[in-house]
This record gives sequence, structure tokens and C-alpha cells, in this order.
Amino acid sequence: MKGVILAGGNGTRLHPLTFVTNKHLLPVYNKPMIYWPIETLVQCGITEILIVSGRGHAGHFLNLLGSGKKWNARFTYEVQENAGGIADALSLAEDFSDGGKIAVILGDNIFTAVGEIKKGINRFTRQKRGAMVFLKQVKDPHRFGVAEIRKGKIVGLEEKPRHPKSKFAVTGMYLYDENVFDIIRALTPSGRGELEVTDVNKAYVKQGVMFHTIISSEWRDAGTFDSLLEANVLIARAERSTKRKNGK
Ligand code: DAU
Repeated sequence: MKGVILAGGNGTRLHPLTFVTNKHLLPVYNKPMIYWPIETLVQCGITEILIVSGRGHAGHFLNLLGSGKKWNARFTYEVQENAGGIADALSLAEDFSDGGKIAVILGDNIFTAVGEIKKGINRFTRQKRGAMVFLKQVKDPHRFGVAEIRKGKIVGLEEKPRHPKSKFAVTGMYLYDENVFDIIRALTPSGRGELEVTDVNKAYVKQGVMFHTIISSEWRDAGTFDSLLEANVLIARAERSTKRKNGK
């Protein structure tokens, strides 16, 4: 399966940090933020990766990441002209996907373990069609897309609901079949003027082909001051513990 990292958008929630640089280039402990989603994909065995970035900073991503050789991967780049939403950024991956299934990760999503994701990917590759989301139980679901689950199936999804129907946040890791691009073409912009990934996922729920994997390992979306700080602390702890285990 090929992978897509979405690193466009304006990062306005992080102003003034993101006035002159891009959110995904900010540090998360000892690496630029985008290194973490790259490592997540590569550790899942996904090495053909498209990186979608915004117009102002595309050159910085290329300078920083190059061909992908450092990760034994192959990187391709696309530029999203305007921050038209996650689904708009994903629409740029159509040619790259070449009619196959894709794994999509948001550039500000920090996962601390890949075991559960790998299992989800294996399960999804056996499905003929559909999509898969990765859910994580959180204290503050109103900040995210939220899944309503009945009898082990997702029956509804809401983007940042005031009154969440569950504590299950939809993380920024998605698996899609090739129909995702037709679904995006049929979308209309939301109230905030964006093509929403939650609307893409709702279409799969409606068709009865939305699968999910619940993850228990730590996860953060590093898009706000507090969650960026938390992501730094989380990764620092994880890295130190790995070093200790390796006797360094
Ligand atoms: O992190 C998980 C959450 O991400 C989900 O639970 C939500 O359902 C989903 O909508 C998204 O919510 P956010 O409000 O956190 O999305 P944000 O606008 O911060 O965008 C997340 C990433 O998507 C960003 O780091 C880069 C990419 N992006 C975003 C926009 C708006 C693009 O590539 N292009 C864009 O135009």
C-alpha cells in the first residue's frame, strides 16, 4: 500500500509560531514534527510516500526530507495551493494512488506505537472495499472527529461535536480504497469553508463499508499549544525509555 502525508494548511492555531514557518517543521522533542508520521508509515512497511504541503513552504519540505533515502523510502511531493481542507489536500493524491488502496496520515499526528496500526492495515488489505479509521478513547472528544459505535460498528461520525456521542476520537490515520476520490469530488465545503475528512468518512459509513481499529497506545494531534507540548513530553519519555532499554 502507498502512503500519503498531509502537511498543508495554515496552522493558524499555532500563531505566532507558524507566522514564518510551517507547523510540521516545528520540533517535537528531537525531530521536526513531520518526521514522526514518516516514521509511523515506514515502520508499517509503507515506503512509497506522497507528501502534500502548502505553497509557501514546499521548498523547505524538499530541503529537509529530500528523496526519502534516509528512511529507505521514496518521497513524491504535491503542492496544495490553498488550505481548502484535509479532503482537498487528499484529492491531490489521485494520480499517485494509481487506483490502489492508500494509507493517509495527518502531518501533525504523533503515534507512539505502530503494532495496532499494522494489524489494522493487514485486516484492511483483506477487505475488498471500504475505509478504515483508527479510534482512540480520549478525555476531550469535542476537539476531534468523534465516532458513534453500536454493536461493534461505526454508525455515525461528527466533526468536533459540542455534545460528543462517545469518547472515541477519530485519529488522523485513515485507510481508503480507490473510491475515496469520487467521494471527495462529490463533497461541498463545510461551514468553515473546507472539504472535511469527516464527510469523506461519513460516506463510507453510509455505504456500510467503514471499518475501525481501536488503539490503546498513546496518540496526540500536535496542532495546538497544549497538545504540541504534550506531544513533546510524550516523545521525550518514549525516546528516553528506548535509550535506557538499549543501554545507551
Ligand atoms: O488529528 C485528528 C483530527 O484531525 C480529526 O479527529 C478530525 O476529524 C480532523 O478534521 C482533523 O482535525 P483538525 O482540526 O486537527 O485538522 P487541522 O485543520 O488541524 O488539519 C490537520 C492536518 O491536516 C494538518 O496538520 C495538515 C493537514 N491539512 C489540513 C488542512 C486544513 C492539509 O494538508 N490541508 C489543509 O487544507
